[in-house]
Amino acid sequence: MDSGIGGIPYCMDFIKKNPGESVCYLADHENYPYGPRGKEELTGILIYLLKKLLTKIEPKIAVLACNTATIAALSSLRENFSQIPFVGTVPAIKPAANASSKGKVGVLGTARTIEEVNSLNLADKSCEIFGIAAPELVDFIELHFDGSEKEKNTEIVKKYVDIFRAENVDTLVLGCTHFLFLLEEFRCEAAPYFEVFDSLEGITKRIEYLLDENSGFLRAEKDSISVHRLFVTGKKASDSFWERRAHSLGFNLIMLDEL
Ligand code: DGL
Repeated sequence: MDSGIGGIPYCMDFIKKNPGESVCYLADHENYPYGPRGKEELTGILIYLLKKLLTKIEPKIAVLACNTATIAALSSLRENFSQIPFVGTVPAIKPAANASSKGKVGVLGTARTIEEVNSLNLADKSCEIFGIAAPELVDFIELHFDGSEKEKNTEIVKKYVDIFRAENVDTLVLGCTHFLFLLEEFRCEAAPYFEVFDSLEGITKRIEYLLDENSGFLRAEKDSISVHRLFVTGKKASDSFWERRAHSLGFNLIMLDEL
């Protein structure tokens, strides 16, 4: 689940490494963006959505492929849906802090994530966190990334890298799943100055761990054929953007509100 397309890179990494498993991706287009929303509001939205989704599908595992949703609502979701194992996404501050020699970690995320990131105690080594909320970067990826030129992408990324450089961070964490679409550009622009960290592989490994637990009880049958579905909320979801997106991913598109 994510507010939009942010969780797609996570989804595709999992699918590539686990070809027999079927994925249902939920893009909450109707409530996009999550970043400016309050904790209670987001928790209410996610509980409502998940209840609705559970009348249609029976997930083995639920993944919040969204830092903002995880930080705001993961504990409430675990309480409300205790039958489902949840995987949450949080900024990869732990490995970034371990790799940082100056102890200054940069974090790029949404307003909600940046507001909370210090109180989450995600590092086991003490470090200073310099966070920036980048709602316009989330919008760029959600609304304008499709078909955008490499040059334009690099120019946008450079703007953020320059801010972190001026602050003298020596590691940078991409703390919003949307930003993974620009991972290559971030790595490239940051390379001479600092290392870039993300949570993508960690999330795939965590899902695989849960599937493999108890002698692979949750694993799909051997040789099973996977079917991936893209659920979208909101009336405007039927526009061609989502149709194109589903088609290019090889997912079946389903409008959650029309069910
Ligand atoms: N992709 C989301 C995250 O990881 C949130 C983007 C938004 O809806 O503001 O935080």
